Amino acid sequence: SDQSGFDTDVWTLTRFVIETGRQAKGATGELTQLINAMLTAIKAISSAVRKAGLAHLQGLAGSVNVTGDDVKKLDVLSNDLVINMLKASYSTCCMVSEENKDLIITPKDKRGKYVVCFDPLDGSSNIDCLASIGTIFAIYKRISEGEPTDKDALQQGNNIVCAGYALYGSATLVALSTGAGLNFFMLDPAIGEFILTERNVKIKPKGKIYSLNEGYTKYFHPSINEYLKHKKNPEDGSSPYGSRYVGSMVSDIHRTIAYGGIFMYPANEKSPKGKLRLLYECNPIAFLIEQAGGLATTGTQRILDVQPEALHQRVPFVAGSSDDVNEYLSFVKKFS
Ligand code: AHM
Ligand code: MG
Repeated sequence: SDQSGFDTDVWTLTRFVIETGRQAKGATGELTQLINAMLTAIKAISSAVRKAGLAHLQGLAGSVNVTGDDVKKLDVLSNDLVINMLKASYSTCCMVSEENKDLIITPKDKRGKYVVCFDPLDGSSNIDCLASIGTIFAIYKRISEGEPTDKDALQQGNNIVCAGYALYGSATLVALSTGAGLNFFMLDPAIGEFILTERNVKIKPKGKIYSLNEGYTKYFHPSINEYLKHKKNPEDGSSPYGSRYVGSMVSDIHRTIAYGGIFMYPANEKSPKGKLRLLYECNPIAFLIEQAGGLATTGTQRILDVQPEALHQRVPFVAGSSDDVNEYLSFVKKFS
């Protein structure tokens, strides 16, 4: 049969990572190992999210686990997968996970030079209704010697070596950057590889969509509500913005990068620092958004400049197209 439409030299994510690693001065291949381990975890999570092997788990395939008692919750399973894969990669010394209160320390004999902060399955409120969810991660080089401590993980986003997210949407996608632009890779389930589908992605300078949980209006600062009023009833004759909010950060951010616009989780009276976590939600996303030419801010400071003080600290988060974020900042100024 005719195979002429078959590309025999595709750029897989594995190939991309090896190639980027080779170009780096003094590279040892450790980061490549780490990223590959992360991708393996992501592929396994993707498969679990899509309920692969469900028949087996439910006992239809003769397994004993008929009641589902031992079926791990998806977020716990995802966390275990990431931790175990990363430990086994011999490239990490410690990790921070949304699911673990304390710093996770890699056993001595498996240690390497990297620190990874991750949210194994973000958007947990969307798991049971089958809306899109995701995995987020940021990788840093350790900054101390001896036993790893919190200090190794409390680094500014400015120090990120590599960050990415996986979106378990209508397809599984990985967005990844090692600081030389943002690239998108789509999972081809037939071969279990991520294929490079968009190189050097750029976010439009201005979009047509705003995205936040507007249900908190009652608790927002007047600057936010004035900004939202302007988006819905522009006095300058421009068209109102559309509104989209999945409630899964990775989905809302991926749409913002793909279509342009603004995503926000601002502070409110009930959550004075917002909800999103600096280390494994805001920093990696801010890094990727900036790599795509966008902006990410707390409202008063660039996200990547924030000096972290606690592993699970929260920050107000506003990110997206540069004109849109700057317009929001002009409202912050008016009220300060
Ligand atoms: P989670 O880590 O418990 O899933 O919470 C983070 C999620 C983000 O994905 C999303 O942006 C936000 O929570 C939605 O929060 P809210 O329901 O308050 O709008
Ligand atoms: Mg989360």
